[in-house]
Amino acid sequence: MTDQPKRDRVVIFDTTLRDGEQSPGATMSHAEKLEIAELLDDMGVDIIEAGFPIASDGDFNAVSEIAKRSKQSVICGLARANFKDIDRCWEAVKHAAQPRIHTFIGTSPLHRAIPNLDMDQMAERIHDTVTHARNLCDNVQWSPMDATRTEWDYLKRTVEIAIKAGATTINIPDTVGYTAPVESADLIRRLIADVPGADEVIFATHCHNDLGMATANSLAAVAGGARQIECTINGLGERAGNTALEEVVMALKVRSDIMPYETRIDTTKIMHISRRVATVSGFPVQFNKAIVGKNAFAHESGIHQDGMLKNAETFEIMRPSDVGLKETNLVMGKHSGRAALRAKLKELGFDLADNQLNDVFVRFKSLADRKKEVFEEDLEALMRDQSKGDGERIKVKFLRVICGTEAPQSADLTLTVDGEDHQVTATGDGPVDATFKAIKQIVGHEARLQLYQVHAVTEGTDAQATVTVRMEENGLIVTGESADTDTVVASAKAYVAALNRLLMRREMAGPDADVKAISYKDVV
Ligand code: KIV
Ligand code: ZN
Repeated sequence: MTDQPKRDRVVIFDTTLRDGEQSPGATMSHAEKLEIAELLDDMGVDIIEAGFPIASDGDFNAVSEIAKRSKQSVICGLARANFKDIDRCWEAVKHAAQPRIHTFIGTSPLHRAIPNLDMDQMAERIHDTVTHARNLCDNVQWSPMDATRTEWDYLKRTVEIAIKAGATTINIPDTVGYTAPVESADLIRRLIADVPGADEVIFATHCHNDLGMATANSLAAVAGGARQIECTINGLGERAGNTALEEVVMALKVRSDIMPYETRIDTTKIMHISRRVATVSGFPVQFNKAIVGKNAFAHESGIHQDGMLKNAETFEIMRPSDVGLKETNLVMGKHSGRAALRAKLKELGFDLADNQLNDVFVRFKSLADRKKEVFEEDLEALMRDQSKGDGERIKVKFLRVICGTEAPQSADLTLTVDGEDHQVTATGDGPVDATFKAIKQIVGHEARLQLYQVHAVTEGTDAQATVTVRMEENGLIVTGESADTDTVVASAKAYVAALNRLLMRREMAGPDADVKAISYKDVV
């Protein structure tokens, strides 16, 4: 048997950096991809799909570097069903101690029409490309894209061809989130029973969440015999996203009585990576999201609180510490010193060099002056802001707004652009509108504001506000995030962070942007 885990082990394949990053607006920088890959490796993810190497030089370089730095995880790259894609993928993943090539083609009637191949021609293409990949790499995954809408006989035929050509993992994607749990289990069960050679490979499940069933479908596929779950942190991914890693992993852990399968994931690392992915992708986690939402372990109502005080198990099926949440998170105040800050940040997963600590300490003191109590969430927000500072061309130097019942409101703003200060005063419909208009006057751009979102980091009127801004210019989508005790200042900084990203993408003449431009449709 090739690459086959024990029957009671489920392999976790994380595609945050490929399928997740493909989500419009979720583009991550090179450094951010390396950081997330390291966190995934450290938390015990078996296989990291690090990108789509042919899509851009940016993607290629990120996959190669992640491959070079990998420790325990298998590093996988995606390739369409052609030799050029597969060769490029191999060039990137070959540096890993354990490389994998993942090649795919759309097998459903709608997808077959795109490269204009008939069933026999496509079957031949699958044979040739999987054989080619297998000649390069011992570990090859093949996916019939849109498998759940592919005719049963044709699906069976193509899976058999891929196995004979040397695929070691067969992934069955529910590309458009169409299937349901009963069907998901049944499909895998029938493939394993009916396809010759099926017991020589691992079957994987790859679900999208369009009908909110991705987690249920993935777990049902495991019941049907799949032993690899493909998923992303926070369920990041196109449209309604992919199966959320934290949901399937915690479901398998909490309900091991009815799902007796193990993963290698250190669940106590879930919260930290969830927050990092939310930050670098610019996709905040909804408050009531299972496992990682802000309210997932909050017990606000009187009845719940009473029960919780008597016995935590009254309303809790897992402990906050199981996913890395501490029981109490009141941390520091303005008298806390540098050593205490370093220790607390280390506990939160941030191991800082001395010069980085000095910068954070200055900002921590300034926050502690404005806010009596500094919580873990505040420190994490501070670190999110900190990680963005390097190489920014535009910075907010000064902002004062006049607001109140009398319109119009106005903003007096100074931005430093490429080292030079620019000052304007603008009016608008509210202080945030006035501030955004002032920024636009200084930095002329055509980008359209797609999303403006404000969240309080903690409770209380002195809480920091985290602001997320998403902008679009000629199909290029960027996000910016910032936190401050002053909502308007956080808004200005988030807007400027998004503009900095836009400038960076423009300067790169599109390598990262190209990831979205290259389509699965260009199969031939
Ligand atoms: O959803 C999908 O079909 C995919 C494939 C490329 C595996 O992401
Ligand atoms: Zn997908």
